[in-house]
Amino acid sequence: MSETTRDFYIAPSILSADFARLGEEVDDVLASGADIVHFDVMDNHFVPNLTIGPMVCEALRKHGVTAPIDAHLMVKPVDRLIGDFIDAGASYITFHPEASDHIDRSLQLIRDGGCKSGLVFNPATPLSFLDYVMDKVDMVLLMSVNPGFGGQAFLPGTLDKLREARRRIDASGRDIRLEIDGGVKVENIAEIARAGADTFVAGSAIFKARNEVDPHHYDSVLRELREQLAGMSSRP
Ligand code: DX5
Ligand code: ZN
Repeated sequence: MSETTRDFYIAPSILSADFARLGEEVDDVLASGADIVHFDVMDNHFVPNLTIGPMVCEALRKHGVTAPIDAHLMVKPVDRLIGDFIDAGASYITFHPEASDHIDRSLQLIRDGGCKSGLVFNPATPLSFLDYVMDKVDMVLLMSVNPGFGGQAFLPGTLDKLREARRRIDASGRDIRLEIDGGVKVENIAEIARAGADTFVAGSAIFKARNEVDPHHYDSVLRELREQLAGMSSRP
């Protein structure tokens, strides 16, 4: 990997993995060059789907996964699960501002537990939730689909929102990652990077590239995603 591409993180969303062999799927995608494991937690209340919780995160750690685990909490209320994910070995914990009555406190809970904290913005959620907490976030995550399901199309209005989020992060002078989640593919990752993202969640684009014949079956899609980012820098 060249210096210019090292700052970009690719974060496969295991929502699209084969849950019956999740440990191997995570091993395979990391061996193929992924940087972070994106872990989607849905509660059938905040979002209309039900997925996996802290026990599965802990199981991945026990299985031997040492890469950062990026827990995206789509649950309400959120504070109790923050504690559970800290104990389960999460690295990043992000939540939606609508899911917490006390955003500042929830962010502090995450950092007090030794994890990196982040706020997630649905397509219609304003970035103004960042106004008074820029010093308490390590990651800003913009949803480019309405959360709940993999395989949806990227909402193009997110590009302007990314530019605005990038402007705010750069103006803060802080080391804050800008993550994008939903509909990221080989065809659009370059445009998304140009709009300011440095961390790319991709679920269906990566796991649909599964090829049971090839033991390195995620190598080619990860290479194609990185090729699109080659020569760009995540920092201005
Ligand atoms: C959507 C989840 C995403 C999802 C992305 O609610 O937060 O992480 O898995 O899937 P793709 O990449 O298929 O849009
Ligand atoms: Zn997600």
